[in-house]
Amino acid sequence: MGSYELALNNGKLFFNNSFIDAHIAVLDGRIAEIKKVEIHDAEQIIDCKGKLILPGIIDAHVHFRVPGNEKKEDWVSGSKAALHGGVTTVLDMPNNNPAIVTADLLEEKRKLVEKDSLINYGFHFGVSNGNSRELKNARNIASFKLYMGSTTGNLLVNDDSALEKCFEIASLKSKMIVVHAEDEKIILQNAKKFQNESTTKVHNKIRTVEAELEAIKKAISYAKQFKTRLHICHVSSKEALSLIQDAKKAGLHISCEVTPTYLFFDERDVEKKGSLLKVNPSIKTEKDRKALWFGLNTSQFDIIATDHAPHLLEEKQQDYWKAPSGIPGIETSLSLMLDASEKRLIQLEKAIKLMTEMPAALFKIKNKGKIEKGYDADLTIVDLKKEFVVKNEDLFSKSAWTPFEGIKLKGKVDKTLVKGSLLFDNDDIIINKNKEAKANLEVGYYG
Ligand code: NCD
Ligand code: ZN
Repeated sequence: MGSYELALNNGKLFFNNSFIDAHIAVLDGRIAEIKKVEIHDAEQIIDCKGKLILPGIIDAHVHFRVPGNEKKEDWVSGSKAALHGGVTTVLDMPNNNPAIVTADLLEEKRKLVEKDSLINYGFHFGVSNGNSRELKNARNIASFKLYMGSTTGNLLVNDDSALEKCFEIASLKSKMIVVHAEDEKIILQNAKKFQNESTTKVHNKIRTVEAELEAIKKAISYAKQFKTRLHICHVSSKEALSLIQDAKKAGLHISCEVTPTYLFFDERDVEKKGSLLKVNPSIKTEKDRKALWFGLNTSQFDIIATDHAPHLLEEKQQDYWKAPSGIPGIETSLSLMLDASEKRLIQLEKAIKLMTEMPAALFKIKNKGKIEKGYDADLTIVDLKKEFVVKNEDLFSKSAWTPFEGIKLKGKVDKTLVKGSLLFDNDDIIINKNKEAKANLEVGYYG
């Protein structure tokens, strides 16, 4: 019996933006010490020689489908998928069935998630056309999620007075508004205009750059008026990104995210893969994709998230109009970014920071996002040298498919630990029998 519950020896750990050779001691689910000398007095010792130890990945944009669409994903399958992807904390979206737009519905969801979750979690709360009272009542939430254009689910705010109200309340409550930025009017007009076209290419003609810009402009003007913190999800075009940068330079409290979908695919891939790549916003051109990479490398993005949006393969294989929008991504995002760093597309340290420290800071998540004494021992151990081929059959998500099927990546998740418990190791989930360790996985927020 040692004085620590766990020691991670001989790894290279991500500390203060670089990698250092050190050893981690864990006690009560927290990082108790970071030591220069190897640790022997621990109940469990893991040798991490040759591996990198990262803060657990934080994915601030997932759709785990509880309640209402558990056939696409439930919280157990979603948790396992997260662990496989090295993700230890998720912030889940409210476009469930029913949509999470009342404090009571949030509490019901909270109970369901608490029962099943293997990983840390938090919730974004939905804005609807008439739920301003509920916005005031919702407790312990990451943000107010605002859908300015319709997407999977039925959450939509198309009433300007409701929009205004939610920016005002968010400002009063010091909550951030997180926006799906596509303008509903433009989408509807275009959908009518192109109703007789049926290839996936039409998605781009309906969900245009203009639709994205129009929504962002509107959100920015309300954020300015009420001094609300604003976050733009899944930016998909060059112009949208530059609009956000202009607002940043003008002193607005605005942030934005990129997802691997828009970094690794452009309209040419959509032609090949059809409805599998039907996603909102639509995947734009090569010019846009390159601009997003440039933006990523010049610190224009605040976080990398996945928008993990599981739908079953048979649903996605339907024709354009029937297929649902959304792409699963939580199991591939870290490896994609590790591989990208090997290919010199992005600096490794930068990618890690955008997936750990920065989402924790942006959403003010307590005690997470860094390897530091006193922080939760949410840790992702990766083998940067390990090559593998992405395969649908290796996925844990109920959706069980990925648009990256068949590609070779260098950089693989070896182990994932949540609050000091080893839950993923060597391609397998370890179901933790210790109930105590499972307790209290909901995150808290500063401020
Ligand atoms: C998401 C989903 O399926 O829940 N779909 C998508 O196309 N991105 C919803 C969303 O984030 O818009
Ligand atoms: Zn969205």
